[in-house]
Amino acid sequence: MDARKCLTTMLLAVMVFGSIAIAAAEPVVIRFSHIVSENTPKGQMALKFKALVEEQLKDKFVVEVYPNSQMFDDNQIFEALLLDDVQMGAPSMSKFSVYTKKLQLFDLPFLFEDMAAVDRFQSSAAGQELLTSFTDRGLIGLGYLHNGLKQLSATKKLVTPNDAQNLKFRIMSSDVLEAQFRAVGAESVKKPFSQVFNLLSTGVLDGQENTWSNIFSKKFYEVQPYITESNHGVLDYMVVTSVNFWEGLTSEEQSALKSVLDQAIAHGNELAGKKAMEDRQKVINSKKTEIVKLSKAQRNAWVTAMKPVWQQFEGQIGQDLINKAFSTN
Ligand code: SIN
Repeated sequence: MDARKCLTTMLLAVMVFGSIAIAAAEPVVIRFSHIVSENTPKGQMALKFKALVEEQLKDKFVVEVYPNSQMFDDNQIFEALLLDDVQMGAPSMSKFSVYTKKLQLFDLPFLFEDMAAVDRFQSSAAGQELLTSFTDRGLIGLGYLHNGLKQLSATKKLVTPNDAQNLKFRIMSSDVLEAQFRAVGAESVKKPFSQVFNLLSTGVLDGQENTWSNIFSKKFYEVQPYITESNHGVLDYMVVTSVNFWEGLTSEEQSALKSVLDQAIAHGNELAGKKAMEDRQKVINSKKTEIVKLSKAQRNAWVTAMKPVWQQFEGQIGQDLINKAFSTN
């Protein structure tokens, strides 16, 4: 065989085997597990992420979304990520305390005046640094996602902090939230989100705190005769993956995925504000619960009762971080 023929044969072989190799490269499956309904900011963000990946990156990735605690409940997601049973989730930041104490910041009662302040803090350098502050524990944050401000619901009308005395509230697994309810003389129990409706409807617990979107989508308003519009804290999420999964991707794959994720988060964040208003109105229209509005003085009494909690946790969170977050108001 002359040299030209030999080169042509080699080129053909490279083309054939190369295309077989490309055809054989299966897209990477990203299982996204979460615990809320699809009709929520997180549910919609996850579906948007899936749709955008299908549109823009379908040769590289496939996203499977598992909502409503179908796959993993509350805190189980962290272990599942570390074991590569799922590749992405967006737990509430109240649930990260085993991995980092810093995110307890977001649970401090009355820290942020509104979601615009939350947004400013999350986009600041200090907020962005938090995303990678627990990589030594095998997890990495890829972005923040909003749900919104929390309201208090109970079997009793809560107007003054004293009204909460001796009531039992369901909380997410956060020591700050435990201290917050202790500050008003109430008890609290850390329970998974999937159990809240039953615990309230059977009278095992008296109350809970949550956003309008979670109160509406999980029907808590049907089993809680009063909802105090307290806006006393924030319930937001961090989209997380494992360091192992993330570092197994090329830098091109990481930036392509991150860009799609940012678009999905922007969609979820835009929706979060709208949904809070819409779901609040749906709860009001249902007439199944009474919405308790607080005057400025009444709300200030809750601030006075709960704010000492900040001091209890400043050692774990860092005074500087608290100041930075507060200054975004
Ligand atoms: C969530 O929004 O992911 C659940 C919040 C909760 O556990 O109350």
